[in-house]
Parts: sequence; C-alpha cells; structure tokens
Amino acid sequence: MEIYLDTANLAEIREAASWGILSGVTTNPTLIAREHGADFKAIITEIAELVDGPISAETISLDAEGMVREGLEYASWHSNVIIKVPSTTEGLRAVNQLAWHGIRCNVTLCFNAVQALLAARAGAFIISPFVGRVDDTGVDGMALIREIAGIYRQDREITTKILAASIRHPRHIVEAALAGADIATCPFKVLQQAMRHPLTDRGIEQFLADWKSRSAS
Ligand code: E4P
Repeated sequence: MEIYLDTANLAEIREAASWGILSGVTTNPTLIAREHGADFKAIITEIAELVDGPISAETISLDAEGMVREGLEYASWHSNVIIKVPSTTEGLRAVNQLAWHGIRCNVTLCFNAVQALLAARAGAFIISPFVGRVDDTGVDGMALIREIAGIYRQDREITTKILAASIRHPRHIVEAALAGADIATCPFKVLQQAMRHPLTDRGIEQFLADWKSRSAS
C-alpha cells in the first residue's frame, strides 16, 4: 500500500518526503485554506515539484462543465497534478470527459460502495472513501474499504485505485492495508505518531547506555 500525505503544508511535505516514504499528496479546499491565503497554483506547483507522484487538486464547481474547465487548467500546471472531483453525477460526467483528455481523476467524498463502482465505470484513476468520517457516523469505515476492494477485485476491467482517506490514527493505516486499499493518505501528525513507540525509545536509551559503559570500561 502506498502512502500519500494529506496536507497542503510545504514544510510537512518536505519533511515526509525526506523520509523516502511518499508516493503522492492529497489536498482539498480546507487544507489549502489552512495555508493562510497562499496562492493555490503556487502551492500545487511547488508540491508537484517536491513529490514525484499524483498530487490531487480539487475542483470547486458543482457542474461538470466547470469541473472540466478547472481540471484542464490545474492539469496544465504540472504533469503530476490529478483532479479531484466529488462523488456526484456531475462528478462522474467530469471524470469521463477529463479521462477523454488523458487527465487522471481522484473521485472524493465517497461514502458508499455504489459510488465507488460508478466512479470506476466512469474512468476514475482513484476513488477516495472517507474512512474517518464514516466512523464518525457510528458505522465501520473500514468495512467500506473492504466492500469496494471486493467489488473491484472481481471486475477485471476496473483499474481504479482505492485510496483510504480521512485517516485519523496509525491503526487506520494498518487496517486500510489489510482491507485492500492501494493507498492511504495520512495527515502528517498521524505519520509522526505511527513512528513513535516507547519501547523503541527505551531500546535506543538502553543501547546508548550500554555502548557508553563499554567505552568507559
Ligand atoms: C482526502 O483526500 C481528504 O483530503 C481527507 O482525507 C479528508 O479528511 P478529513 O475527514 O480529516 O477532513
């Protein structure tokens, strides 16, 4: 399973990219807004220079025509840019038209398996089920990943990748991989949490103490 970073923060992207683990980045209007008025095109282009993989830039229009217009513009900024459109019928139309132009789409805000099936049929490159937000409704978000994986696996024509989105904690990453996700997009904080373990810290301390005592003797 590939790891993407779910942020528009360049410092976080630079740091995670330096760990050698990043295969792509997802942004959304909320994440862009957190960067305090920074220019959208400038952020997306810089991310696309930092990470050589799919960089999702989300459309704002609600109609297919607008999504396609925005998608064509964003895709012209850098070859790594892919276009995020919502799981709506207008989104499906936009995916289909953008695919015709050779532009890859990430169909976002997916909350049921039929949305995922139709997105794949329309030609989506990525489908993004929102695991954490499904969990918030009291339903098992990971079950949605399992359902989509089951549907996609038994249809040889489907090449759409399953991206587990709305990841809230390190356990979500493990469960997404086991459930059949191709990608998990993670907030930077979750990746930091994932690499922290008290036994790792204690082990390092012990090794260093033993090493020092050895040089002293
Ligand atoms: C995915 O591409 C979205 O940007 C993201 O995972 C949304 O997560 P949230 O529910 O934490 O906002």
